Amino acid sequence: MKKRTKNAKSAKKKRASKNGVDPALLDRLVQAAKAVRERAYAPYSKYKVGAAIATKKGTVFIGCNVENASFGATICAERGAIMQMVAEGERDPIACAVVTGDEEGASPCGICRQVLAELARDMPIVLVGLGSREGETGRVVQLADLLPLAFELKR
Ligand code: THU
Repeated sequence: MKKRTKNAKSAKKKRASKNGVDPALLDRLVQAAKAVRERAYAPYSKYKVGAAIATKKGTVFIGCNVENASFGATICAERGAIMQMVAEGERDPIACAVVTGDEEGASPCGICRQVLAELARDMPIVLVGLGSREGETGRVVQLADLLPLAFELKR
């Protein structure tokens, strides 16, 4: 009986650390992304996005989408968070969360994948959707799976 409890415990621990990142940190990122999503400036698409990035040092940087009347000038939430991180002097992202209002959560766009990959070849990204009837949905994907063979400048 005692042994079964111990095994169940270690199995749970194993699941939790599957992506090598503390689930409590991922949760913290989701909360931060959810909060910053409220500040998104999305008068054209009405599609608000919040992102949060944790660094090796333990700092969390946030970003939201900022749209523009010249649509191509729009900045995505993920890139906003990365810009903040670099401007504050950090360059080691270890995990990211992206929160949207749809059912399943949205995967970062191609440009954001490339920008994230510039400083983290791989990291877990939690995708959370707030719009499902069952409440919040979330899944964790890996950046390296979203962007295999990322462009690298080799000269
Ligand atoms: N958007 C993001 O913020 N991140 C993405 O990865 C994809 C799209 C934003 C841009 C635009 O303001 C809105 O979502 C609709 O495309």
